[in-house]
Amino acid sequence: MYNRKDSYYKKAKKEGYKSRAAYKLLELSQKNQLIKKGHRVLDLGAAPGGWSQVALNLVGANGLVLAVDYAAIEGINAPNFVFIHGDMTAPDTIAAILAHAEKPAESTNGGFDVVLSDMAPKTTGIKLKDHADSIELAQLAAKTAASTLKAGGTFIVKLFDGEDRVQYVKDLQAQYKSVRTIRPDATRKSSYEMYVIATGFNSNS
Ligand SMILES: C[S@@+](CC[C@H](N)C(=O)[O-])C[C@H]1O[C@@H](n2cnc3c(N)ncnc32)[C@H](O)[C@@H]1O
Repeated sequence: MYNRKDSYYKKAKKEGYKSRAAYKLLELSQKNQLIKKGHRVLDLGAAPGGWSQVALNLVGANGLVLAVDYAAIEGINAPNFVFIHGDMTAPDTIAAILAHAEKPAESTNGGFDVVLSDMAPKTTGIKLKDHADSIELAQLAAKTAASTLKAGGTFIVKLFDGEDRVQYVKDLQAQYKSVRTIRPDATRKSSYEMYVIATGFNSNS
């Protein structure tokens, strides 16, 4: 049973993060130096906003964080923060993301350096179904990453682990130089979530 008073929950409250999930991204990015000053970051499934807060700190004033969720994000007012309130399964949400990621052929200014997806389905407790739903969201995120990342970019995505993970990782291996799976310390012991970190996007794949 989730204990709302767990240590990461308390830490998040004290340090002003909107979610305990913030510590997962902090850990992933600190260990792997993935988000840097000036980066443009796309944050899918961003509400209530913990990952966006972490990403905004890491990219600094010259970077950008574009967050997407069908749930609201409130109280993040940085000038370089943009929120698209939409469902990732809806074509107009994808169109709105692409409008922020235009990649003129000769320019490196369009596109994103990092695409994050912490999207999670509404869980049913039926492990196979939750896994299948999470893979579906992860596939949607991978497709979005493939059409918006700069060459060499990074994609970080959450999955509920299960048998389709192997094929999912294989598909990413065809598009990225390196693909790893990791379980951050801030992940609850009882959870079967894990993160895939794919770096070195090959834009010709
Ligand atoms: C674990 S929460 C994300 C927490 C966030 N990373 C943070 O640090 O605050 C998962 C989010 O995925 C969002 N989500 C799930 N399916 C989605 C979809 N189809 N389109 C947009 N957002 C979705 C949910 O609304 C939820 O806010």
